[in-house]
Order: sequence, then C-alpha cells, then structure tokens
Amino acid sequence: RAAAPFSVQMPVPPVLRPTRSFPGVDVYQLALRPANAEILPGVNTPVLTYGGQFVGPTIRARTGRRVKITYANQLDRPTNVHLHGGHVPASSDGHPMDLIQPGQSQLYEYPNRQQGATLWYHDHAHHLEAEHVYRGLHGFYLIDDDAEKSLCLPSGQYDVPIMLRNALFDANGNLVSDTDPAERTTIIANGKVQPYFQVAARKYRFRLLNSATEGIFRLSLGDGTPLTQIASDGGLLPAPVSRNDLRITSGERVDVVVDFSRYPVGTQVFLNHTTGPVLRFDVVRQAPDNSRVPAQLRALPALPAATVVREVSLGTDFSGGGPIPVGVVSGKPFDPERVDIQIKRGTTEIWNVTNADGEYNFTHNFHMHLVQFRVLGRNGGPPTADDAGRKDTLIIPPGESVRVQATFSDYVGRYVYHCHFLEHSAIGMMAQMEIVP
Ligand code: C2O
Ligand code: CU
Repeated sequence: RAAAPFSVQMPVPPVLRPTRSFPGVDVYQLALRPANAEILPGVNTPVLTYGGQFVGPTIRARTGRRVKITYANQLDRPTNVHLHGGHVPASSDGHPMDLIQPGQSQLYEYPNRQQGATLWYHDHAHHLEAEHVYRGLHGFYLIDDDAEKSLCLPSGQYDVPIMLRNALFDANGNLVSDTDPAERTTIIANGKVQPYFQVAARKYRFRLLNSATEGIFRLSLGDGTPLTQIASDGGLLPAPVSRNDLRITSGERVDVVVDFSRYPVGTQVFLNHTTGPVLRFDVVRQAPDNSRVPAQLRALPALPAATVVREVSLGTDFSGGGPIPVGVVSGKPFDPERVDIQIKRGTTEIWNVTNADGEYNFTHNFHMHLVQFRVLGRNGGPPTADDAGRKDTLIIPPGESVRVQATFSDYVGRYVYHCHFLEHSAIGMMAQMEIVP
C-alpha cells in the first residue's frame, strides 16, 4: 500500500505521568489494551498497546529513584512486561513464565540503580513475545542521571527517542505476522511510515531503538555527514564517536547527536536505511543552543578479572522434521524447569557466544537480562564500532562468535538470555541462568 512519503509528522511518544509521587518513588498505572492505530495515512490498523498508543508512553526515570508500575492486562491473552536493559529483581524482570493473565494486574518495581540509559519495555510471554511485540507492545523507558545532566547534552524537546521497526501490512491495513520476517519491508518510525520531523538548526539527541522482532537497520544521513554517537545500550560512551553508519539489530539502542546548525533553514536531511529513507528531518527554524557534546562523556569502569569462562551457542534444530524448527541454546530448546547456567552472585564471567548456524546462513543476536556486558572481541579479533560501551544486545553473524564479559551483581534468581530475533526465542532459542547467593 503506497502512501505519499513524508506526508505525516513523526510523533514523539508522550511521557507517562505518575499517578502518585512520594520521596524517592514514582507510582504509575499502565493498561494493556487493543486499539486501532493510524500507521498508514487514513488506515486503521488493529494493534496491541500500552495505554492505547502504538508506541507506548515513555517512562522517564531517574537514577536512584524507584519506579513502581502496575500493568493491567485488558487484553484477551496472557502477557508480561520486560524492562530491556534494566537491572531489576527477578520478580520484576518479566520472566517468560511469569505471566499476567487477562483481567489481572501486576506490580513491577524498578529500582533504577543504574546510570542514565535508553531502555525499553516490551512483552515477554513465552511463545507469544514475537507476536505481541510485533503487534505493538513496545515503549521507551529512559533513565536520566545528574552526572549526565551536568554534561549539557541536548535535552528536553531536543532529546527525542525514535523507535524504528519493520512491518508487513495486508491490503486492509492489518499487520501480517505469519510470513517470513524478511518480507516486513515497511519501516515505521515512532508509529508512522516515512514521516518527517521538523527540527531547529541546532543540536539534537536522538535515541534510536530497533524494536523490530527481527531485523537489522543500517542507518546513515542522506548527505553523508557522520552521526556523533554518544551512548549505546547501557548509557554513555567514554567519548563521542563519529560514525558514518550505524548497524542496529533487534533490541539495540544507539544515542546520537546531530547538529542541524550546519544546514540552512529549509534543508531536508534524510535518515537512510539500506532500502531507502526512513525519516526526513526538515530544518524549519533557528533556535538558541547552549547544549554541548563534551570531548569526554563517562569513563567505563575497569573490567574486573573474570573467574569463569563459558561457551554458549545459538542454533536451529531441524531434526524434528516439522514445518517449524526448534531454536536451541547450547543444543537445547528453552525449558523453564531447567537452569542452564548457575552463577554465584558477584562473579565476573566471560561468555564466548557462537552462532552455530553458519551452514544455514542464519544471523542471530544475543541478549542477556539483568546485566550490561562489555564486548571483548569477535572471532578472535577486536570488537567492532557497534560493540562499544555497555551492551546488553548484539548481532552475531552466521558462524561467528563474540566474547562478552559481565559481572552478576545485586540480585539473585532466574533470568533468561536469548536471541533477540523474537521469532527465534519464541521457538526455543532462549536459556535460563540462576544467580545464587
Ligand atoms: Cu528485549 Cu528478553 O528481551
Ligand atoms: Cu536468532
């Protein structure tokens, strides 16, 4: 269905207001319900939402200030909520088997004992997560902290989260999910297809998230000027990095600063993916700008010595002969009754994670709950530019391997790790670690 490109404005998801606030804690309510969204101009698409919005409302949290949020499931199916990138107790992590049944509510508590970062929340109900996220159960959760604030990066209306994802629509505007994800070639930015976004001729911070259940974006500016990356999944980089293009896979976040003061008012600047432009920035006015991108942002902590090294693999098992293969981690499909890895709290570990599907040429992606990890290297060589900083999700091309290091602090209990191509985790490419005292 072809609509005139760049005919609608990109919305910025509204910020959810607390229903109550107390010293050190904000309390929220958020209902999950079906709705219609106008993703294609003039067309109603049935979607599943947080709060009736196809990109759920943004939750703005602060480091050290707790968030308590009650999710009310008004859908006709079980759901749950995972705070992707969050360092949270197991009871609030949205474990795939910890479900909110239709008509029920559940309180989640997020301590926000972590630095400023672009996180997101999404459904994680086992076997259903791919379908649910595809139909709209996704929203931003942004953590701010004082040290970051003192850097004077672009903020307020100049700090804009942009959720990119793909979709396939049928002739009636319905989202089609029962096809190969590679056919989802319509790209959506904050819920609109090829929107424009009016900007002032000054610096902006864009928090880019790939919320596609399966997909890779390779983004660059249409005029070839580099993007200035300032943060990755878990927060600020040590220093800004100039990037000609960004590769962002499902679940990953990249924060960039773009300085539109280099363009005369009236300029149109495209944000391009390999398939063409996904968003157009229209420079429409002048505005004062006292924001900065300091040469130093935030140092990464020294890596403690790892005492455990593990091998983990992601693969696909076709041996059952059925139409749908089984996803496996280290040879086994997800079993909620089984603990795959037990970890003593406080331990620092290195995981060498291999994509074992080289023969099928399947790309995978690796996400760990609870921790931010650091990438030590790929295929025996150095990390790539996409691996910089604190990470919780990364791409693993067919047959390749990645070494990551993480420290499992604070919380005990069961958490999952999985391929964040959610069609893969939904068929079993997920495993469970248990942190023990
Ligand atoms: Cu964003 Cu276990 O997921
Ligand atoms: Cu995968």
